[in-house]
Amino acid sequence: MLASIATFAIEGVDSRKVTVEVDVRAGLPSFTVVGLPGTSVREARERVRSALLNSGFEFPLKRITANLAPADLPKIGPSFDLALAVGVLAASGQLADVDLSRWAVCGELSLSGELRPVPGAVAIASSARERGYSRLIVASENAGEAALAEGLSVYGVETIERLVGLLLGELELEPALPAKPQPDRRAWPDLEDVRGQEDARRALEIAAAGGHNLLMIGPPGAGKTMLARRLPGILPPPALDEALEITRIHSVAGISDGRLASERPFRAPHHSISASGLVGGGARPRPGEITLAHRGVLFLDELAEFSRLSIEALRQPLEDRSVEIVRGQRSIRFPAAAMLVAATNPCPCGRSSEHCECDHAEKLRYQRRLASPFVDRIDIVCAVDRTGRGQGRTGERSEVVAARVARARALQERRLSGDGLHCNAEMGPAHLRRHAHLERRLASRLADAVASGRLSERGHDRVLRLARTIADLEGRERIDDGDLDEALAYRPSLAETVLA
Ligand SMILES: Nc1ncnc2c1ncn2[C@@H]1O[C@H](COP(=O)(O)OP(=O)(O)OP(=O)(O)O)[C@@H](O)[C@H]1O
Ligand SMILES: [Mg+2]
Ligand SMILES: [Zn+2]
Repeated sequence: MLASIATFAIEGVDSRKVTVEVDVRAGLPSFTVVGLPGTSVREARERVRSALLNSGFEFPLKRITANLAPADLPKIGPSFDLALAVGVLAASGQLADVDLSRWAVCGELSLSGELRPVPGAVAIASSARERGYSRLIVASENAGEAALAEGLSVYGVETIERLVGLLLGELELEPALPAKPQPDRRAWPDLEDVRGQEDARRALEIAAAGGHNLLMIGPPGAGKTMLARRLPGILPPPALDEALEITRIHSVAGISDGRLASERPFRAPHHSISASGLVGGGARPRPGEITLAHRGVLFLDELAEFSRLSIEALRQPLEDRSVEIVRGQRSIRFPAAAMLVAATNPCPCGRSSEHCECDHAEKLRYQRRLASPFVDRIDIVCAVDRTGRGQGRTGERSEVVAARVARARALQERRLSGDGLHCNAEMGPAHLRRHAHLERRLASRLADAVASGRLSERGHDRVLRLARTIADLEGRERIDDGDLDEALAYRPSLAETVLA
């Protein structure tokens, strides 16, 4: 007897359908699995056999052959247990006349027959829905997350026994409800703690308002790290589709709490991180920090300490807002729409310019680390100088700044949602033409900056996006002289004076 059941495998941060066919026929007892790599076959067979026997089912003493298709998809991990078990049950006549064609199952089994959760539940459920499955069975721990993908019924069950009851219609179960986010937002440190630093605070606010990349340059103890850590507290919460993307990625990476994300991620990897740790990779491609920071912030503190390779690896993802990894015939795309925030000292000794003891060559070597094509992808470069002890007034509270940022973002959402975008930083050339129109006089000022070599072509578009955000913070549709001036002043080429 032949049976077939659908399950789903994670690839990148997406999920692909895998069909498990099981054939049970008379012959010497054996259990052959094709389509799974070496050791996982052995383990899956043992778990399925023990789980079925320990749950009071029959494990047929016949020739069992299971095939996992398609063959080209590397199937790693224990998430195929459940489909194998259901296939064996159906092919040995233990599921009566259950029509399995609309069901999908996904989960690991324990030897005693309990269902164990697997990573990537919401990605699995979304794919199941897209492929037309109306019912999905997962471990109860996965159910709330899987149910976030609306449009199909998700059932969370604890044991293979209950799963069979559900399939046979003997057990009545309500479909799982989507796991709402944790109600209390995390308490981020407050901008109120920062004395003085009006310019840096302004730069942080603009970056937050439009989702722009930001580089802070200044001597040790100036407050760069302190400022960056206060960014999450002024960012608006993610929109629903953004929250789903965040949840999906974090779930695949095993760092989700199984609920809908209510916060944007803030990732601050140590500077010893490898290039593949930063942008993703590995034999079985895993998302890197820039993908884990998707829809949030990637903070590179002490930028100059990161290896040159790591920084270079970020260039393409920063441009494309995604990472592409090629493995054999297939290419896997990881989303990477994160705000980059970086901080660095101006030179190795890190003292203020009047006390600096570094010679010119040392300084150059240090700054060359911040390879200029990389810095060209930064929208805002700002100098953070030391405030004297006890100097400077305490600033506004994060709540007040966050309200302004939220207003500016609301304008962007209204303007850009038709294009599927959320913030100004995401605008491509076509969006810029439509949404960041400059009066002729301003446009020629910008063109002059490019012609004179002060601004690269990429820089031109970045200035436009930034000017759009500065106008949005004023609630103004028209971009004026002041907006353009301020946007130009944040360009890296002009900030060379800071580095000098
Ligand atoms: N503007 C400020 N207002 C209040 N406290 C400040 C300010 N700047 C610095 N500090 C204090 O100094 C400490 C060090 O600041 P921070 O770590 O942010 O400096 P940094 O610029 O990141 O230095 P480094 O280059 O050494 O990393 C902060 O924890 C804070 O206590
Ligand atoms: Mg620091
Ligand atoms: Zn120095």
